[in-house]
Parts: sequence; structure tokens; C-alpha cells
Amino acid sequence: MTDTTLAARGVALDLLRDVLRKSVPFDDAFDAHPDLAGLEPRDRGFVRLLVATVLRRLGQIDELIQSCLAKPGLPKAAIHDMLRLGTAQLVFLNTPAHAAVDTAVELAAARNAAPYKGLINAVLRRIGREGPALAAQQDAGRLNTPDWMWLSWRTAYGTAKARGIVEAHLHEAPLDLTVKADPAAWAERLEATLLPTGSLRRPSGGSVTELPGFDEGAWWVQDLAASLPAKLFGDLAAKRVFDLCAAPGGKTAQLVAQGASVTALDRSAKRLERVTENLKRLRLEAELVATDAATWEPEGGPADAVLLDAPCSATGAVRRHPDILRVKTPDDIAKLAKAQGRLLARAVDLVKPGGTLIYCTCSIQPEEGEAQISRLLARDGRVERWPVTPAELGGLSEPINEKGEVRSLPGMLADLGGIDGFFVARLRRRPE
Ligand SMILES: C[S@@+](CC[C@H](N)C(=O)[O-])C[C@H]1O[C@@H](n2cnc3c(N)ncnc32)[C@H](O)[C@@H]1O
Repeated sequence: MTDTTLAARGVALDLLRDVLRKSVPFDDAFDAHPDLAGLEPRDRGFVRLLVATVLRRLGQIDELIQSCLAKPGLPKAAIHDMLRLGTAQLVFLNTPAHAAVDTAVELAAARNAAPYKGLINAVLRRIGREGPALAAQQDAGRLNTPDWMWLSWRTAYGTAKARGIVEAHLHEAPLDLTVKADPAAWAERLEATLLPTGSLRRPSGGSVTELPGFDEGAWWVQDLAASLPAKLFGDLAAKRVFDLCAAPGGKTAQLVAQGASVTALDRSAKRLERVTENLKRLRLEAELVATDAATWEPEGGPADAVLLDAPCSATGAVRRHPDILRVKTPDDIAKLAKAQGRLLARAVDLVKPGGTLIYCTCSIQPEEGEAQISRLLARDGRVERWPVTPAELGGLSEPINEKGEVRSLPGMLADLGGIDGFFVARLRRRPE
């Protein structure tokens, strides 16, 4: 094994520990690891794929390890993680058996775990032989989903839709792009599929920054579902719009491209820097304010339109971020729901009578979506629903619920390649 192969496996081991035992979001752990910069782009890509695969398939992997251990009971955490990395390669990434086993054994030696070399060798050899057949018999979607999430989705949507969600999570999402203008021409240049809503879709993988149009700022990465809220405002020419939770700025860019004069807020000044960078590449302009949207007092009073893309658990984005399955807890949902309620109450004050308010989250927990809106409407007579129609989604009706809210779930639009889970409600402030 070369030094770089060993270094890549070592980084993967650290990242797994950070996500599973310190609840650090995978992207943050990845960006902060000091050894990543020294790896070749190919090895960095491999580390990302390897750790993401362990997180996506953790339930299956742990069951396989349990069934191939000679004695019951799991080894200590770091050794368990080495077995997880080896199993992911053997069963899900088609790494040749000798390479996956040898690298795991050498990693044990390099990480002061030489006494475990024999155990790792024996368990992984057995998984190499028996793992693929055993994995084919597993209930993959259910095994990889924490019980509390499974129960919450089954209760909210029924068993068939909950199954659709957990099975969609087994696969990485495609790469979706939103273009500033001329989607058909860009679809051709980028060899992408033009989706009914105007987003472009390419297979996942490859370097985004090397695609045509990146440097000139013709498009940005944004899931089909995430592109819907801003589109539902329609034409925004000459309108003043507040984007209350803006970073990293995908929806800000859409609002500006739709003609609005946008004030984009985010509580985090550091995250707002990403909005500055993204808008600069896209040659778009907005006013940026680092502040808490719940207490912000705009000069010039309320706006014609307000977008509240509230902080949320992101359980709708597991296809892209499988760490969410491991780092989020029911406590997080309760805390986030409280913050969302506070922001939503303030958002109503910030929109003019006759204006439009769009609330959205990339969560599939009803507490962060449907329940927020029914509670708001029950207590605040200033706003009413303005239902979304399939015609506004390019004819797609599956992600619209009976109240005219967008409720997309991973597992929907499977023939198009799927969609992230998202909730969008469009409200109108009644004229005074
Ligand atoms: C879901 S993200 C927004 C994504 C963004 N709209 C986009 O499309 O790229 C939520 C953002 O809300 C910000 N945030 C959380 N609480 C906030 C608050 N009280 N006021 C303003 N921003 C807040 C977070 O820093 C985070 O950047």
C-alpha cells in the first residue's frame, strides 16, 4: 500500500469518528481535516465516497459485521470503524478483496491497533466471501434508517411512502443546476436533461467547477426541490424582496435573476461571505445584512415579497448528506421548530398587505412544515394560503398536497431521477 492510500484511509477513519461520535456534520469535518489538502484530488474524492457510503449504509454494514464476528459483541469504536470502512469497500464499492483487507490491516498497524490485525483480517475476509450475498437479502432501506426517523415518516406519510423515502436514500442524488437564463441552450451545452420545472439534471460525480458556464456564472448547483420556492413568486421585476435566511445564496440568486431588488439576511456573517462569493461569480447583486431576522427592523418598512427558507433538520436532503441520518436527533427537531415559529411570526410583519410570503424547509418532518403553517394560520388572520398549482411546477402534481402546499419526498418523481424532500407554503398577506 502506498503512503497516500494509507493517508486517505486514515482521513476516512477520522471523519467517521467526527460524524458518528462527535456529531460534526460531514462537510464541516471534511473541510476542517488538516491532511486532506495533501491528498490528490482522486484520493480526496475517494475519501468522500467511502465515508458517505459507510454513513448511507451503516445499518447494513453493522449487521454484516455482527454476523461475521466469531464472538458476539462489537470491538472498540476505532476498530469497529476500520471494519466499517473495509466492509463498505468490499460490499458496496467493488474494491478488490485483497486491497480492502490489506489496507484495513495496515491502517490498524499505523493507528496503534496492531493486536487487532488478526481479527480485522479474519472478519473482512469472511465479509469479502459472504457479504455481497448476505447484503442482497437485507432490508436495506429500513436497516439504514434510525428507528425514530422511520417511525416519524411512517406516521406522517404511511408505510408505502416511508418505504419510498428510505429506498431513495440508498442512492446518491443527481447533480441539479439552476440557470440564470436560457435553460434549453444550457441543457445542450452541459449535456444535461431539462426538467419540467426548468432545472437541468446531470449524473452525480465529476468536477462542477470544470463544467462549461461555471466561470462565467451562468448557473449554480441547486436541487430541483430547492429551486421551487423562489420560482413560486413569479415575475419579481421592480419588486422589493427580503430573503430572511439567505446563505449560501441559491435562492437569493434566483430572486435577483427574477428581477427583484433583494435584501438578503443571514444571522451568520461567515455564511454570508459565501453569498457574497456566489453572487460575485454569478454577476448578480443584492444588499446583504448579517443579523437575526426575527428582530430585524428594515429601513423603508415591509417588502412586496418575503422568503423564509428557515433553518431546519434537513431530513429531506439525506440523499446528498447521509450524515443527517446519524447527527440529527428528535431534540433537534423540537428546537428547530421553535426557532421556525419565531421567524415565521416575524416574517408576516415584514411583508406588505397584499404581498406574498413563502415559507420553506428542506425537512420532511411535518413539525417543520405543515404544522408550522396550520399553527400560523390559526393564530394570525393577516395571512391566507395561496395554493400552488401543478401548472406552476411544469405540470408536476405529485409533490403538491391537498392544501396546495409543495410537499416533496425522496421517492417521488422516480422516473425523472427523484427529488429532495422539501416543504413550501405560499401565503398572501390580506390587503388592509
Ligand atoms: C436553510 S439555510 C438557507 C439556505 C439558503 N436560503 C439558500 O437557498 O442557499 C438557513 C440559513 O438560516 C440562517 N439562520 C438561522 N437562524 C437565523 C436567524 N434567526 N436569522 C437569520 N438567519 C438565520 C443560517 O445561518 C442558515 O444560513
